[in-house]
Amino acid sequence: MTSTDRDDERRVEPAEEPVGVAPIVAPYGAEDHGVVMELAASERLPLEPDAEVRRGHALLWVVRPAARAPAQGYLLAWRVADELELLHLVVHPAARRRGFGGALLDELLAHGRRRGLGAVYLEVRVSNEGALRLYRSRGFREEGRRRGYYADGEDALVLTLPLSRGPVPG
Ligand SMILES: CC(C)(COP(=O)(O)OP(=O)(O)OC[C@H]1O[C@@H](n2cnc3c(N)ncnc32)[C@H](O)[C@@H]1OP(=O)(O)O)[C@@H](O)C(=O)NCCC(=O)NCCS
Repeated sequence: MTSTDRDDERRVEPAEEPVGVAPIVAPYGAEDHGVVMELAASERLPLEPDAEVRRGHALLWVVRPAARAPAQGYLLAWRVADELELLHLVVHPAARRRGFGGALLDELLAHGRRRGLGAVYLEVRVSNEGALRLYRSRGFREEGRRRGYYADGEDALVLTLPLSRGPVPG
C-alpha cells in the first residue's frame, strides 16, 4: 500500500443520484450504525464501522430504498494495491431479492472501473447459492477454493472479476 493509494481512497465518494425507484447507495454515516451492526451480527461478521471509516483503503457503504429511509444492507470492501477485496455484503433478510445487494455490488464495480482498478476478489461459502448466483450474474468467475476456510470447516470459493474487461455475459 503506497501513500498515493491511501490518499486516493481516503474518502468514499457519494453514489450517483438514484433514478426512479432505484436503491440509493451512499457512504455509511453515524445514523446507520445500529442497522449495520445488527446486519453484521446476524451474519457473525466482525465489524467496527468507525475504524473502517478511518482506514484510507476501506469502502463502507449502505443501501436504502429512499433518502432518509433506514439502511437495508451494507457493503465493506478494501482496496489493496490495484484490486478491490469485497469483505462483507449483507442485506436484511426481509429486504432480499429486491435489488439491494445487486445495487451495492454494482456500485463497487463502477467505483473500481472509474479508477481503472484491475479486479475484484471475494470469498463465498460453497453452499451460498444465492450469493453465487448474484456474483455470477455480474460476471464473477471461480478462481480457486480455500479448503476449510470457515470456522465450521466449510470451503470457500474465491471469485474474481477482472474490471478492465467488464462483466462477462452468461
Ligand atoms: C447475498 C445477498 C447480499 C443478496 O442480496 P439481495 O438484495 O437479495 O440481492 P438482489 O436482490 O440484488 O439479487 C440479485 C440477483 O441475485 C440472485 N440471487 C440473490 N439472492 C438469491 C437467492 N437467495 N437465491 C437465488 N438467487 C439469488 C438472483 O439472480 C437475483 O436476481 P432476481 O431476484 O431478479 O432473481 C443476501 O442474500 C444476503 O445478505 N445474504 C446473507 C449474507 C451473504 O451471504 N452475503 C454474501 C457473502 S459472500
